[in-house]
Amino acid sequence: MTEQDFILKTYNSNIKSGSVKWSSPSNIALVKYWGKKENQIPENPSISFTLSDCKTITEVIYTKKKSNDFSFDVFFEGKKNEAFKPKIQTFFERIETYMPFLRDYYFKIETSNTFPHSSGIASSASGMSAIALCLMSIEEDLDTDHIDDYFNQKASFLARLGSGSACRSIEGELVVWGKNESTESSDLFGVKFEGEVHPNFKEYQDAILLVDKGEKQVSSTVGHKLMFGHPFAKERFSQAHNNLAELKAILASGDLKAFVKIVESEALTLHAMMMTSMPYFILMKPNTLEIINKIWAYRSENDSNICFTLDAGANVHVLFPKAEKEQVYEFIKSELVAYCQNGHYICDSIGKGAKRL
Ligand code: DP6
Repeated sequence: MTEQDFILKTYNSNIKSGSVKWSSPSNIALVKYWGKKENQIPENPSISFTLSDCKTITEVIYTKKKSNDFSFDVFFEGKKNEAFKPKIQTFFERIETYMPFLRDYYFKIETSNTFPHSSGIASSASGMSAIALCLMSIEEDLDTDHIDDYFNQKASFLARLGSGSACRSIEGELVVWGKNESTESSDLFGVKFEGEVHPNFKEYQDAILLVDKGEKQVSSTVGHKLMFGHPFAKERFSQAHNNLAELKAILASGDLKAFVKIVESEALTLHAMMMTSMPYFILMKPNTLEIINKIWAYRSENDSNICFTLDAGANVHVLFPKAEKEQVYEFIKSELVAYCQNGHYICDSIGKGAKRL
């Protein structure tokens, strides 16, 4: 598939109105995307677990209009929201070539999250994938013919143009994005990981510990740019390829100890890249480190397979096999909740991807 294949050529412009609704999950990367080229093309491949319960639910109501500009309103949790508009305006500008009908309709976009908005957890992945899926359903309503995997591929392709990691939120349970030698893949969209997955990884758990709910000092978009000319960039990008290849073998063999090593090393490398860019920055907080140290102590004392990962922020994703669910939640409640802002954490697990409602 090339970018040209995603350009919609003909559609029925007599359709007056309609509405579509999707629920789309967040995802958590095991091998991290950090660094991109022009047009949201990643510098290295990444792979993520799709989440189950952290979701955005978006309904788009579309009505034919006359004027030739983009026209839309965003309602977040029932209230008109001006703050989200610039991001969606930019998104429309980026995807217009592929969806020429965007200027023909007024869109009322109603969106909400299943997780608290103020939680500081990334909502761009679920938010951008949900709107991309709604636009794809509208494209379908306009009497277009789609074959095979086209719907999901184009939804992921569009989501990527909204926010890179959003392209990994269309399907489950594991999704790869970024050309690489070990798996089926593309730089343009996320591809469901079709390799063997050992039962040890079925229904893997993710407890998201909310350490800091505030606005980040450095956005991901700025962080990605700092990988340009970064002294360790070349090594890092090649390491991600190796880690993905190793992880593929680990997912097949069920080697939980090896899984822990790759996942934690990826999380710390991501933050090491932030600390060694110019300007440098730190997104972890003291409580992030307190939690990491507690997890390490618990793991060695209990011969557990618990591990952590981080995205671009201070919150900690605690990953563990379903078989350890009861004990690990006991541990979280007794020892980790104290480091969470207002004691807040979210219990989630691997999910199967977005759903049309
Ligand atoms: C650290 O996808 O949020 O979570 O493409 O600029 O929107 P933009 O960035 P974004 O980057 C997230 C990176 C990460 C790692 C990952 O999810 O792979």
